[in-house]
Amino acid sequence: MAQREPIGVVGTGYVGLVTAAGFAELGNEVWCIDIDADKVARLRQGEIPIWEPGLEELVAKHRGRLHFSTDIADALEHARLLFVAVGTPPTYSGDPDLGAVRAVVDAMPASDHHALVMKSTVPVGTGASIKRHFVEQGKGDFRYVSCPEFLKEGSAVKDFLHPDRVVIGDDGDWAGDAVVDLYAPLDAPLVRTDIASAEMVKLAANAFLATKISFINEIANVCEETGADVLEVARGMGLDDRIGPKFLQAGIGFGGSCFPKDVLGLKQLAGNSGYHFQLLNAVIEVNELQKRRVIGKLHKHLGTLVGKRIALLGLAFKPNTDDMREASSLVLSARLQSDGATVVAYDPVAEDEARKLMSGIEFADDALGAVRGADAVVLVTEWGEFKELDFREVAGAMAGDVLIDGRNALDPEAVRAAGLTYEGIGRS
Ligand SMILES: NC(=O)c1ccc[n+]([C@@H]2O[C@H](COP(=O)([O-])OP(=O)(O)OC[C@H]3O[C@@H](n4cnc5c(N)ncnc54)[C@H](O)[C@@H]3O)[C@@H](O)[C@H]2O)c1
Repeated sequence: MAQREPIGVVGTGYVGLVTAAGFAELGNEVWCIDIDADKVARLRQGEIPIWEPGLEELVAKHRGRLHFSTDIADALEHARLLFVAVGTPPTYSGDPDLGAVRAVVDAMPASDHHALVMKSTVPVGTGASIKRHFVEQGKGDFRYVSCPEFLKEGSAVKDFLHPDRVVIGDDGDWAGDAVVDLYAPLDAPLVRTDIASAEMVKLAANAFLATKISFINEIANVCEETGADVLEVARGMGLDDRIGPKFLQAGIGFGGSCFPKDVLGLKQLAGNSGYHFQLLNAVIEVNELQKRRVIGKLHKHLGTLVGKRIALLGLAFKPNTDDMREASSLVLSARLQSDGATVVAYDPVAEDEARKLMSGIEFADDALGAVRGADAVVLVTEWGEFKELDFREVAGAMAGDVLIDGRNALDPEAVRAAGLTYEGIGRS
């Protein structure tokens, strides 16, 4: 194998650690930097702080190539390219918090042989502003590349190694060329463009996917009123290759660390620039209402929720991750508790994260433990194991008989055959 370029990755969360392990798989030495000393110590011992399929194995396989440190100087010493993968969480204004990005920018020395490669999702114009900042600080030779990340939690390792496309926004200099070379072995379609356009690709892609979800959720709601079945409708729509079948699964709304933040961020970016992005307002509002629709369904079946025991199956914002950021379960459980219900929940991997964000709910060790004595069960996250449940056993353990399938993941006939009352989203 030809000698591969050593790189630095700043931030070892979902994106940073997967990027680091992915490049290690391609043969790169990677210096991984994080300000969280505890996380770095755990990573050095081979412990993976997040739950992501295949990541632990990949990090273990490449322990010799992955170096972990809290000192950014270690990365600057060994690598020309520093990938930035720090968090950009939402603020109260809807703008993302760029504090961590700025901290990294400020830590850069004057250099004519280093470049920042921005993987964090940032507003359009961030690259231009960082370049201006470098010039003002006398670091004008520091190069800058935008390289937005499109991996999905739950299949992040596979997504890194088999991306639909790689987007690189740069000034046509050595740094852009070097990032193109880094990704070359993946043989993915390459979109090499200017920095602002690369930044916008990321925001527009997430906003479009979120729009698709809110669209099908509204179709589902109209299906409920009119007797159509949204699964049939989505199947019929999705076969049109101008539409495609993905992101047409009706449910109880999107969550996670990216869609809510990036949709809001794009709406805010447009507003800050003097443009009113009407469509995104609706996408956000539909999603908020969708998270609460289950409450109406429970009232319909149970009447008052005061004193009722409601079991939530799944808490993570989607299956195959322990990420609880902006999960629909957070809104749902808070609404249930404020209506006087007792909430008991089970998630195969997200309990530790959930405990940090949820209060006043009971946690069960397994799905049957959660449904025992419940008046109603809500499937919140479509983990595979819930599809395998023996619904006769579930029915036998419950006090009531209502099962709300918030992700249309179960077979209604199997659930009904077990004596339960099934209700999905957008299904007659
Ligand atoms: N999670 C995803 O699925 C995903 C997908 C695509 C893009 N993104 C974007 O990638 C970025 C990172 O997201 P994430 O989910 O990996 O975040 P994360 O919260 O999991 O990880 C961020 C890491 O950065 C570290 N950090 C913060 N400030 C630092 C600093 N000054 N120096 C070094 N390390 C620092 C934190 O300790 C943490 O370990 C965000 O902008 C996000 O929008 C995320």
